[in-house]
Amino acid sequence: MALRGGRYEKIAEIASGGMATVYLGRALGAAGFERLVAIKEMHRHIASEDEFVEMFLDEARLAARIHHPNVVATLDVGSDEDGLFLVMEFVEGPSLQQMLKHLHRQRGEKLPIDIALRIFLDALEGLHAAHELTGEGGAPLNLVHRDVSPQNVLVSTDGIAKLTDFGVARAESRLFTTKAGNIKGKVPYMAPEQATAKPVDRRTDVFAAGSVLWEMLAGKRLIKADSEVAMIFQVTEVVPDSPRVERPEIPMPIAAACLRALEKDAVHRYATAAEFAEALEQAARVSNVAIATPRAVAAFVKSLGVHRASAALMPESRRPDALRPDALRINTLTKSVGAMSSPSTHAGAAIETDAIDFKPRTSGAVRVAAVIAAAAVLGGAGWFFLANRGPGVDTAAETPVAAAPVPAPSSEPATPPTPGTGATVPAVDQKPAPSASAKPKSTPRPVSPGYAPPKGGSKSDFRPREL
Ligand SMILES: Nc1ncnc2c1ncn2[C@@H]1O[C@H](COP(=O)(O)OP(=O)(O)OP(=O)(O)O)[C@@H](O)[C@H]1O
Ligand SMILES: [Mg+2]
Repeated sequence: MALRGGRYEKIAEIASGGMATVYLGRALGAAGFERLVAIKEMHRHIASEDEFVEMFLDEARLAARIHHPNVVATLDVGSDEDGLFLVMEFVEGPSLQQMLKHLHRQRGEKLPIDIALRIFLDALEGLHAAHELTGEGGAPLNLVHRDVSPQNVLVSTDGIAKLTDFGVARAESRLFTTKAGNIKGKVPYMAPEQATAKPVDRRTDVFAAGSVLWEMLAGKRLIKADSEVAMIFQVTEVVPDSPRVERPEIPMPIAAACLRALEKDAVHRYATAAEFAEALEQAARVSNVAIATPRAVAAFVKSLGVHRASAALMPESRRPDALRPDALRINTLTKSVGAMSSPSTHAGAAIETDAIDFKPRTSGAVRVAAVIAAAAVLGGAGWFFLANRGPGVDTAAETPVAAAPVPAPSSEPATPPTPGTGATVPAVDQKPAPSASAKPKSTPRPVSPGYAPPKGGSKSDFRPREL
């Protein structure tokens, strides 16, 4: 089978858009080690633009220098006869856009404020790390993301949010300017200077982040219009409402911090993403809002069930099977696998920050031992079942049942909110929208971290859904 870049195997398509297709893939390394990765393959017609290719490769090399837990690690970049591709850390979890879409449209709910703050602050940390990136000699690289948007924030089922697609927007803007004289990017999140093709700096990303936060808090997009021209007008001329207009329970200091990031003139915004983060943390403190823990975010993300889990994406024959010992996750091997990354991309260090989805190929002896052990467990369980089976067992009980019923994602939490966390958060909109699209199962949800993790919540609890 053909491998991209000699060692990246595509397993299944995750999503395809105008510019690229993203695949779940596997990086194959020495001594049988492998790790799951995301392979972003630019469409062929795009890869034929020399200027774009050059810029894409340059930007990806810069992005690969960012090593931060809140930035999706760029592990490799390459160009071969099949075109351009980017290899990234695979994030098991939905994008923020998928989460918001599901909450707003399917459930008629808004993101709990404490969860929103945790996710957003994570993204700001990643953004700041990228803005602070320096070159070999220590000189600032002045990286600007240019496409901070809910699409480019991935929220892992471990409860950590990560910013992705650094540099992609810059290369894309070059392509689109060359081809059609257009501004490429998501106008709804663009700062006025970007929407009017003026010079950008890190404060441009602070504005976009402010727009993302506004949407997370208010439960709707800040900028929405029928045409790009109308959107640009809104971005440049219309003073945004407070998110409290949509959701009065948002504490005033938090709304104020959000609006400061959305100042039209960059001079009046926070100078850095870190400054924005500090202001928000302070606002949460004075408002008595306990920012959610990653554990609470993890439970919340899992309760949504909106992403395609890697296991579900894999062909049947390659899915991890509970009885196959080589499906066990062995996280302690990250360091040795780091050695397989190319030195030019500094991917080794990035790999060490992420301990998911390594699967060593186990020896035959280990397999045999595990199969025997599993057979012994099953045999024992069968004996216990037969020994305790009374004469009154009905036929329904004899029907094999694969698993205990999984609670509906929208069901009430199994455990009460932890005192001192959820209890201190101001009430949020708990009413499901009266729209016909709201699912009947949708029940009011308390402010997290009352989201109890699904019992025994493993990745196999997730089912593939529409993205
Ligand atoms: N590193 C990753 N790990 C897991 N899934 C990913 C990863 N990167 C992207 N995806 C998935 O692929 C989808 C498509 O990503 P892609 O970057 O091509 O488009 P987008 O983010 O929706 O839009 P944009 O063109 O603005 O980046 C994402 O929504 C996400 O679900
Ligand atoms: Mg993206």
